[in-house]
Amino acid sequence: MDVKVNATNVVWHFSQIGREEREALLNQRGGTLWLTGLPSSGKSTTAYTLEYELNRRGFFAYVLDGDNVRHGLNKDLGFSASERQENIRRVAEVAKLFADAGIIIITSFISPYRKERDFARRIHHDSDLNFVEIFMDTPIEICERRDPKCLYAKARRGELKGFTGVDDPYEPPLSPEMVARTDEHPPESIVAQIIEFLESVGYLPVGSQQSSPVYRPAAASGLKAI
Ligand SMILES: Nc1ncnc2c1ncn2[C@@H]1O[C@H](COP(=O)(O)OP(=O)(O)OP(=O)(O)O)[C@@H](O)[C@H]1O
Ligand SMILES: [Mg+2]
Repeated sequence: MDVKVNATNVVWHFSQIGREEREALLNQRGGTLWLTGLPSSGKSTTAYTLEYELNRRGFFAYVLDGDNVRHGLNKDLGFSASERQENIRRVAEVAKLFADAGIIIITSFISPYRKERDFARRIHHDSDLNFVEIFMDTPIEICERRDPKCLYAKARRGELKGFTGVDDPYEPPLSPEMVARTDEHPPESIVAQIIEFLESVGYLPVGSQQSSPVYRPAAASGLKAI
C-alpha cells in the first residue's frame, strides 16, 4: 500500500517478553478474523456474537468495528477511496498489534477493496500471525431490505454519495477462508460455523465449547489456539 513514510530516525525497540510468553499467559494464540461485506451484510452482528461466544468459552477476543473506530481513531477520515484505504490500513496495523499481543481480534469493516484486505493479510503473515478472511456473502437485495441505518435508502435518493454497493464498488474476496450466508443462517449458526472452521484448522482447540468459560491454566493442555 502506498504510504508516504515521514517517520525517519526511528529504531525498533525489542520487548523482553516474547509472543510465546504472552500466548502461555493467555493460553491462546492471537490472530485476526477479518469480516468483510456490503453494508448491512451482518458484519457487526456476527462479530459481536462471535466475541461474546469466544469470551464465554474463555478466550480473550475483541472486536474492532467500523463505525466504532470511526468514532475515535479514524474520526478524521471520510469515505473517499483514499480515506477508505487509510481507514483499513490503520485498522490492519492495529489488528496486527493486538494479534501480536495475543488477542483474538475480530474486525468488522466493509473493507471494500481487495488490495487493502490483501495488505492486512500480508502484514499478518509477514509477522507469522494467523489471518482469516470471512466474506459475509449476503445478496445486496437482502442487505438493502434490512437497511437498519436507512443508508441504502438515502444513497438511492442521492442524498448520500459514494455508498458501497450503490455508487461505490465492493470487490468480493476471491479466496476467503470462509463464506457466511446471513440470509440463510441466524447469527448463532454462523458463529458456530466460524468456530468449527477455526477448530478444523487448529486455530482453536477442538471441543473448545467444553472449556471452562472463565479460566484455563496455561499448562493444562498445550492448546494451540488462534
Ligand atoms: N445472520 C443474520 N440473520 C438475520 N439477520 C441478520 C443476521 N446478521 C445480521 N442481521 C441483520 O442485518 C442487519 C444489518 O446487520 P449489521 O449491522 O450487523 O450489518 P453490518 O454489515 O455491520 O452493516 P454496516 O456495514 O452498515 O455496519 C441488522 O438488522 C441485523 O439484525
Ligand atoms: Mg456494522
